[in-house]
Formats: sequence, C-alpha cells, structure tokens
Amino acid sequence: MPIVTVTAPAAQERYCIHIGSGLLSACAERFSPYAGRRAAVVADENTARLFGEALLAQLRDADVDASLITLPAGETTKCTDSLLTLYDAFLDRHLTRADLVVALGGGVIGDLTGYAACTYLRGVHFVQVPTTLLSQVDSSVGGKVAVNHPRGKNLLGAFYQPELVLIDSNTLDLLDARQVGAGLGEVIKYGCIADRALFERIEALGSRAALWPHMHEVIARCCEIKARYVHEDPHDHGIRMQLNFGHTLAHALENAMGYGTLLHGEAVCIGMVAASGWGERLGITPAGTQARIRALLEAYDLPTQVPQGLSADALAATMALDKKAEGKTIKTVILTDIGACRGVPLTADALRAML
Ligand code: GLY
Repeated sequence: MPIVTVTAPAAQERYCIHIGSGLLSACAERFSPYAGRRAAVVADENTARLFGEALLAQLRDADVDASLITLPAGETTKCTDSLLTLYDAFLDRHLTRADLVVALGGGVIGDLTGYAACTYLRGVHFVQVPTTLLSQVDSSVGGKVAVNHPRGKNLLGAFYQPELVLIDSNTLDLLDARQVGAGLGEVIKYGCIADRALFERIEALGSRAALWPHMHEVIARCCEIKARYVHEDPHDHGIRMQLNFGHTLAHALENAMGYGTLLHGEAVCIGMVAASGWGERLGITPAGTQARIRALLEAYDLPTQVPQGLSADALAATMALDKKAEGKTIKTVILTDIGACRGVPLTADALRAML
C-alpha cells in the first residue's frame, strides 16, 4: 500500500497528512495517540454506509471508544441546525476535551464537523478523513471550517487545524464522474498557480483514465502546495489568496445559477479560463496560456464556457461583492506564467468589460 506523508505546518501547529490507497482499512496505528479516549465520527448517510464501519473498526483496534453520527447528505446540512444536532450528540456521548471528533466525508461534513469541534467545549481533538477529491486536495487541509448562514455561504467560521488528515485515494473509485471532475479542476488550478511540472504532467497524461493510477501522488503534490500556502499565510491575509485563481468568476457563477447547479470545482474551471484571458488582455499572462488551459480542461471533460443567458452586468455586480473586494477593486489572481501568479486589483467595470 503506497503511503505518502506530507507535513502541514500551520502557524504554531504541525500535522501529518497521510495519503495511501486502502488507508481507511489500515489506519489503526494513526489513532494510537487517542487510545483510551472516546471518538465521534461524523458522516453523511452515503459516506456512513460506504466507509463508516471500516473506520470505526480501525478506531476500535486502536482502543478508541468510537461511534458514528449520521447526517443527511447535501449542502443544506452545512447549517446552524446541524451544529446543534452535533453538540447534542457529543453531549449524549459525554465527549470531553480529551476526546476526538472525526470528519468522514467531503467538504460539507469536513467544514461543519470542524466548526463543531472548534466550538464544542472551546475545542476538542479533530481529525479529517476526506473522501472526495475536492476535499482531499483542498478543504481538509488548512483549517478553514464553517457553516452557512441563510444570507450566504461560509459566513460563520473559524480557522481550526486538524491534528491529522487521512486520505484514502481508493474512496475516489466510488465518486461519480462529475464529482471527480470538480476535484480535478482544483488539481489543475494548483498546476496553474504554483507548479508548472504538475500542469505539464497532467497535460502529458491527457485523460482521466491515464491520470487515475497516479492519483495518490498527484493528491500528495497538491497537499504539499496547499500546506506551503497555509504555512506562509495561515489566516488568509496575503499569499493564500493565490489559491483563489478562477474563483472571482466562479463564486459569481455559482451565485447567479443557484448553488449546486454548477459544482464549485466546475465553476472554478470556467473561472480559470476567463481569468487567463483577462491576464492576456492585461499583458500579464503570456499569449496562448488561455488556449492551453482550455485545451487541458477539455481533455479532462471539464467545462470551460460561461453558460448562455447570464448577463455580464449581473456577474460583474456579484463579483464586486466578492470577499476579496477591497474598496472599489477586486483582488483577482492573474497568471504571470503557467505555474506562477500574482494578485491584481481590478475594478468591477474592468471585469465587466472583459467578460
Ligand atoms: N480553499 C482555499 C483556502 O483554503 O484558502
């Protein structure tokens, strides 16, 4: 079983990200520091059915008194009502600050469970076991935890680093093609912003089928890149914003189309094509980069075009409300080459003109 270990240093904390195929059924030793403690494993109904028993068995092998808390699947679960459900379940299980909360699932479960772990008793031990590609390469690393407010996504949140991240690349075999694609969009993003060799490797492999046997190495490389950003900027005040390449338009598209119509990673693909075009028009991104990114995304069956019928005015107005807006400008990540980028302040008018 290949295991790759990445150490993710964040501010004062360091934690290990273990990546391997079959890790979910062979991770008992990773839980040995928690022997004699209780653990609440939080999953949605799908991941509970697929992976719940395997993970509970590993925890019990490590002498951890583990039980499963199951929530409904879907983005609507990432809300304050679910937080109260989790706090009740933790109290029913008499979880103390010595005990452990484990998130088993994708970004919804990871973000929600992390926020519950951060706030319950002012913080309990927290482990992430991400099961989607998007959560394995992005949301499980870096400590952003949150729930949605009726007025917006992720409005209630914190930075709370996990103590351990366990990634079993075999879980990807059970994902549907769209979910895999959404994760691949973020993988390609890492190549675009920070690793030309990764971009060119994915380009050379040329298809999902050819990439698949190399997934655990690719996930490890993405985690390394993310860990570097988190180390430099744990609280997202500076360079970490580069992770938002393609996100200015992506957030506006998700908002305009209704959350869930486009998966986040799909919206990021369209946003990356647009942002590389903006960069070329500004003379910052080398000519031909947009075509190269578009060709790569198309080879991996990923969307590249803004869906028809969306007004540029409405998208630009939504972009002006982006979290990265500062006064009249929006800090937009622009490539200076494949594998390098910087933030460029652009006005909503400039973005509208380029859309
Ligand atoms: N998902 C972007 C970040 O963690 O900063």
